Amino acid sequence: MPVPQKIASYLNSLKPVSPHLMEILNSLDTGGSVLDVGRKLSLDPVLSARLIHACSSPLYGIKKKIESPVHAVAMLGINKVAEILLTSELKKNFFKGHFSTYEYDFWEHSLAIAYGTQALIRCMGFEISLGKAFTTGLLHDLGKIILYKIYKDNAELASWLAAGGNAALLKEKEIVGCNHVEVMTFALIKWGIPIDVVKAIKDHHNFKNKDDMTRIIQWAHFAVYGKEYPEPPVTSYVLKRVRQDISRDLELVDLFFH
Ligand SMILES: [Fe+2]
Ligand SMILES: [Fe+2]
Repeated sequence: MPVPQKIASYLNSLKPVSPHLMEILNSLDTGGSVLDVGRKLSLDPVLSARLIHACSSPLYGIKKKIESPVHAVAMLGINKVAEILLTSELKKNFFKGHFSTYEYDFWEHSLAIAYGTQALIRCMGFEISLGKAFTTGLLHDLGKIILYKIYKDNAELASWLAAGGNAALLKEKEIVGCNHVEVMTFALIKWGIPIDVVKAIKDHHNFKNKDDMTRIIQWAHFAVYGKEYPEPPVTSYVLKRVRQDISRDLELVDLFFH
């Protein structure tokens, strides 16, 4: 669905996502040889430099110095490299200099859901790549930060964006003409993000959608915030493991901001 001109212009003003990163995100299900992926990354010097720099962040706990994209893929695997590149790509576009409490909470939420989806996949054995799950989790509410940045003087919108839930979706649409899900769906299609990721994000507020990826995003919200699931997907023992996994990952979230 088209979005208001003001939003389309903002999205056009963003730096394009590297085609090499897109290629990697699109190949996460089929995998690829370490050499192939590393060589493709080496063709993009800016992306390569960003990957090597990001690998030195304490967020990833990588002890050895990463020398090249091939070295990074060999040591960390393709899923982890995709995770690092996507996080730094978003930081570059949306997270510069001073940030408000809302922005801090937003990124904390997005990272928590990204880690939550991975924990669910690890504990429940879904056949979805961890890199793709992380991508879906990290991007699922990005439409909120886009609306927040475009309409930064609209306090009513900001309070609905922070409130969340289906009532907020209606209010967002009433105030600016489209909600964060519609903004994000438009942006993801424009960027060429894998279609299964787009579908899951488009439906992350629709509990009638029973696709694995969509449900994992929804369950991650319950797991992260310790709420009861409407339809428990697994036994309470597995849920406990998922929550332990997530809380370990969440201890690292603060490092994202440094
Ligand atoms: Fe949402
Ligand atoms: Fe969310």
